[in-house]
Amino acid sequence: MAEDLILRMPKTMLDAGFHKQILPRFKFKHRIAVVAVPDGQADMAFGETGTQVFQKVDGAVFKLDIVTEDTDAQAQAATFLKWLKSTSGKAAIEGFKPDGVQIYTTKVVAAEIKTDETFDGDKATGSRLALVHCGRCHVIDKRNRMGGIGSTPSFAALRGRENWSDLFRAFYVHNPHPSFTQVAGVTDPFDPSRQIHVAPVEITPEEIEAITAFVATLKPKQLGRPIKSN
Ligand code: HEC
Repeated sequence: MAEDLILRMPKTMLDAGFHKQILPRFKFKHRIAVVAVPDGQADMAFGETGTQVFQKVDGAVFKLDIVTEDTDAQAQAATFLKWLKSTSGKAAIEGFKPDGVQIYTTKVVAAEIKTDETFDGDKATGSRLALVHCGRCHVIDKRNRMGGIGSTPSFAALRGRENWSDLFRAFYVHNPHPSFTQVAGVTDPFDPSRQIHVAPVEITPEEIEAITAFVATLKPKQLGRPIKSN
């Protein structure tokens, strides 16, 4: 069995918990475990050299440098780099919002990473899960056409947004979901002292991918005006 891959990142990034946002999602997708360290020996590093992957919203650019000489580790690090530049990697980077504020953006490299999206989740499972977990508040499709609550957008309307797949893959970082959603291996456990107003949604990254694959099959509801998110 290969050893964990070691990723060096600036201490401030580590302290902010960025590794907890991206590494479990990468591991889920590619079955490669990565541990983050602030200094010392590593197989790859976020820093000033290498391939540009993201930048701070307010400036500083981060690149990924693959420094290992081991060929197996190099191949795994290359997979990590490719994932960082994929739709799910970007969603993970952009979705990192400690205290509700986005810190990193991938916009600068967006032009060179237009890849065809694939949805490899299980659509039938996603369809069932969407109704169970999300149908309490969102209109999913004709199965709960009269359900959903008030101003909560329907899945067809959300499907009509340009960045719909990013929104779905990272729905749990967008309000109001963080207060009631727990993603296995990704989000921190609920604060035991929290006031419970809404029944929790407990879900796995695989189930989120299944829901996203299901949503891909929905007919987008065309909205009157184009919605641009910056
Ligand atoms: C308790 C109610 C509730 C549940 C359960 C819920 N949502 Fe939502 N969701 C909302 C509300 C309310 C909004 C609109 C928030 C806004 O526009 O400010 C929303 C918005 C969204 C958005 C758009 C986010 C954005 O930033 O525009 C996505 C995507 C989404 N939900 C996905 C899901 C998925 C997937 C599930 C099930 C796994 C789910 N939601 C479960 C209430 C809920």
